[in-house]
Amino acid sequence: MTQINVRVDGASYEDDVEPRTLLVHYLREQLGKVGTVVGCDTSNCGACTVHLDGQAVKSCTVLAVQADGCQVTTIEGVGGGEPGSALHPVQRAFREMHGLQCGFCTPGMIMASIDLLAENPDPSDEEVREGIEGNLCRCTGYQNIVRAVRHAAAEMRGQAAAASDGNAADDPQAAPAEVDTAASEHVVEPVAVQA
Ligand code: FES
Ligand code: FES
Repeated sequence: MTQINVRVDGASYEDDVEPRTLLVHYLREQLGKVGTVVGCDTSNCGACTVHLDGQAVKSCTVLAVQADGCQVTTIEGVGGGEPGSALHPVQRAFREMHGLQCGFCTPGMIMASIDLLAENPDPSDEEVREGIEGNLCRCTGYQNIVRAVRHAAAEMRGQAAAASDGNAADDPQAAPAEVDTAASEHVVEPVAVQA
């Protein structure tokens, strides 16, 4: 047995694990984090995706001992994590855009999508498809998943813009939102270059 210290969904754990224990099995069987699911035994489906120090990983491809000293976030740690608490915008978008049917792939899809949007807040359809290519869905045909991720992206960009507007309004040193370049003394006119 090897002792590990790990923070999962905001709580600290100190546990003994066998060196061969996979992170997904540690999460499910020792911590009861059964929202993270196992959909294959070939590292292909992505249903087991969690965030390890902020990066999406397939937790069936990581040993629990490799998570020693790390922060792990599972689907149970996003959007408040408690029954009745506010959903994460990506969770909400999957529900509103019908991005799931049986729901088995959904925890992994959502974790992969959150990571994708952290890297690229305004992905095209193609970029969403590339970003979630490691996650398989047998039900939806992916169309509504792509719509859901882009819907969430728009909402999250709106929230970020509102937050930064609020900060600017509170900050007396903040630059004005619009600059009248015609009135600026520092406008540089283009210079004609002789051939
Ligand atoms: Fe991890 Fe399928 S269970 S990729
Ligand atoms: Fe059933 Fe994706 S909703 S596998």
